[in-house]
Amino acid sequence: MEVVIAPGPELGRLAASAIEQLVREQPDTVLGLATGSSPLAVYDELARRHAEHDLSFARVRAFMLDEYVGLAADHPERYRNVIEKEIASRVDFAPGAVQGPDGLAEDLVAACAAYEEAIASVGGVDLQLLGIGTDGHIAFNEPGSSLASRTRIKTLTRQTREDNARFFGGDIDQVPQHCLTQGLATIMSARHLVLLATGRGKAEAVHQLVEGPVSAMWPATILQHHPHVTVLVDDAAASRLQ
Ligand code: F6R
Repeated sequence: MEVVIAPGPELGRLAASAIEQLVREQPDTVLGLATGSSPLAVYDELARRHAEHDLSFARVRAFMLDEYVGLAADHPERYRNVIEKEIASRVDFAPGAVQGPDGLAEDLVAACAAYEEAIASVGGVDLQLLGIGTDGHIAFNEPGSSLASRTRIKTLTRQTREDNARFFGGDIDQVPQHCLTQGLATIMSARHLVLLATGRGKAEAVHQLVEGPVSAMWPATILQHHPHVTVLVDDAAASRLQ
């Protein structure tokens, strides 16, 4: 596990550079996209490089980490819509190249299985962007998640719903109770994991991720078993590292 401590704006550029290098070497790269605040600087930087330096995503396919269950198709916080707004609409992905778990499917269990098959059918994810929750979740694998889990339905913890209420006008009651999320084993199948974390609120989770014992109670600690992980953190998020 490589840990890089740098100022916030630099972190976005570092992650964007890893993606740019991969996409230029291998134009049909498969990317894993995260939502939330952490990857926004990366998406801004990729959009800039697309506009100013001809970085093309025309042959790239991308898979999202997770999706809320039951948010209306046009809800601005539906993760498909967030990804469309923050990155897909700003670069040149081919139609249908960005996929996510279908939180509106009638059969959610079948939708999870289909999503795993879709990822496997393109040979897996080359580079997966990740954030981390204050409770150590990655994607929506909350504490207690099986370290061997695959894409499935999960119940969001009150902590995560409180953390995400800021996207729903500060009203926790508007935050869905359930989600579909790639499992920890799904994430571990990606070839390179790039995790971003900023701010003091992430310091304990980053400490556990890097220095804690591997435990389902801090799901991100499973990344210690991955051969190629880059952790990009600012000073505040790194403040509890030994
Ligand atoms: C989002 C996701 C979550 C977030 C995490 C951190 O797709 O999978 O694990 O990465 O909740 O969120 P932010 O970046 O908003 O602090």
